[in-house]
Amino acid sequence: MVKLANNLLRLGDENAFTVLARAAELASQGRDIINLGIGQPDFPTPPHIVEAAVKALKDGHHGYTPAIGIAPLREAVAADIHRRLALEVNPDHVVVMPGGKPTMFFAILMFAEAGVEIIYPDPGFPIYRSVIDYSDATPVPLPIREENGFAFSADDLLALITPETRLIILNSPANPTGGVTPGEEIGKLVKALERWPDVAILSDEIYGQMTYDGLEHKSLLSYEGLRDRVILLDGWSKTYAMTGWRLGYGVWPQALVDHARRLAVNCHSCVNAAAQFAGIAALEGPQDCVARMVSAFDERRAFVAQRINRIAGIRCAVPKGAFYAFPNITGTQWDERSLASALLEEAGVATVAGTDFGGFGAGFIRISCANSMDNIASALDRIEAFLADHEPRRTG
Ligand SMILES: Cc1ncc(COP(=O)(O)O)c(C=O)c1O
Repeated sequence: MVKLANNLLRLGDENAFTVLARAAELASQGRDIINLGIGQPDFPTPPHIVEAAVKALKDGHHGYTPAIGIAPLREAVAADIHRRLALEVNPDHVVVMPGGKPTMFFAILMFAEAGVEIIYPDPGFPIYRSVIDYSDATPVPLPIREENGFAFSADDLLALITPETRLIILNSPANPTGGVTPGEEIGKLVKALERWPDVAILSDEIYGQMTYDGLEHKSLLSYEGLRDRVILLDGWSKTYAMTGWRLGYGVWPQALVDHARRLAVNCHSCVNAAAQFAGIAALEGPQDCVARMVSAFDERRAFVAQRINRIAGIRCAVPKGAFYAFPNITGTQWDERSLASALLEEAGVATVAGTDFGGFGAGFIRISCANSMDNIASALDRIEAFLADHEPRRTG
C-alpha cells in the first residue's frame, strides 16, 4: 500500500470545477443547463491576441524561455501597470506564471511553516485556504461581511494580526462576492501596517480592471511604504478572456523575486512561449475589447442584483466589481448546498454554494455573470419558479 504525505489530505479543491463538470455531464445527457457557476468570461479571446500566438508558433518560438518570462513581455507588463496605475515597476521584478494561481501557491509556500499564521479572506477564492492548509501554516480567516458591501474591513483585519502573522492575502475586486474595498479603507490598513513591518501582503488584483459605478480600483502596489513587502498577483485570464491559455504574473519585491524564479524553475521551467507572445499583443494592442467585456459585465451584474432582489427570500448586495453576485438566500430557508445542488439537478441552473468559498459563505450562493443577458434572465426566472414550487431543504 502506498503511503501518502499527511499534508496531501489537507489539500482542498475548487468546487466550481466540479460544478462545471457536472453541468457539462447533464448537458451531454440532453438537459438544458444554464451555467452561472463558472468564473470565466463567456467571450472568446480577442482575435489579434490569438493571431499573435499563431505567428509566434509559425516564427519558431517552440523552446524554453527564461523562467521569469521573455523580456518584452515583462516590459509590456511594466508599461501596462504604468498606463493603468501610473506606477513604476522594474520589469525584472515581474515573474510570468502559468496563470494567476501559481503566484498565490508560491507566495504561500514562501512564508508558510509550522507556527506561522496566514490571514485570508472568507468567503474568498478557495485556493488560498486550500494551499495554506496544505502547508503547515495556520489559516486565519478574515470575515468578509455583507453589511460592508463585501469590502474587507481594516479593523477586522488588524484585530487578527499577531506576532505569528507572516502573510496577509487580500483580494479586491473580489471573488466570490463582487465586493470592492474603497481606497480609504485600504489607506487605513496600510497606515496601521506600519506597526507590522515584517508582515508581507499578497494582493490578488486579477479583477482590477472590473469595477463599476465609478469606483476606482486602488492597487496595494501604489503605497511606497509597502513596496518592499507587497506581492501583486494579476494576469490575463479574466481581463482578456484567456483562462485556458494559462498566463498570469506576479510583481515581487526585490528581496523575493529570485525565490519566485527558483520556485518557477523547480515547478514549470517557464510559461508556454507562444502564450507569452499572445500576452504582449494583449497588453500592447487595442484595449477596446476589454472595455466591451467590462461594459457587458457591468450591465449584467446590475440586472442580476435588481432581478434577484425581486425573488422572495433572497437579497443581494449590488456587486461593485469582478463579475459575480453573492445573494443571501437565508430568507428562503434553504441552505446554500442544498439549493445550489437542487438548482443544478432540478432547475438546470449551475451556481456555486457560498460555503465552497469558506465558512462565512454560509447562507449565500455565487452567481457568475459570465453568460448572455438572455440566459441570465431565463436562469433567474427558473430560480424564482423553482423556489416558489419547492419546500426548502436543509442537509445540515
Ligand atoms: C480571485 C482570483 N484569483 C486568481 C484566480 C486564478 O486565475 P487563473 O485562472 O489565471 O489561475 C481566480 C480565478 O478564478 C480568481 O477568481
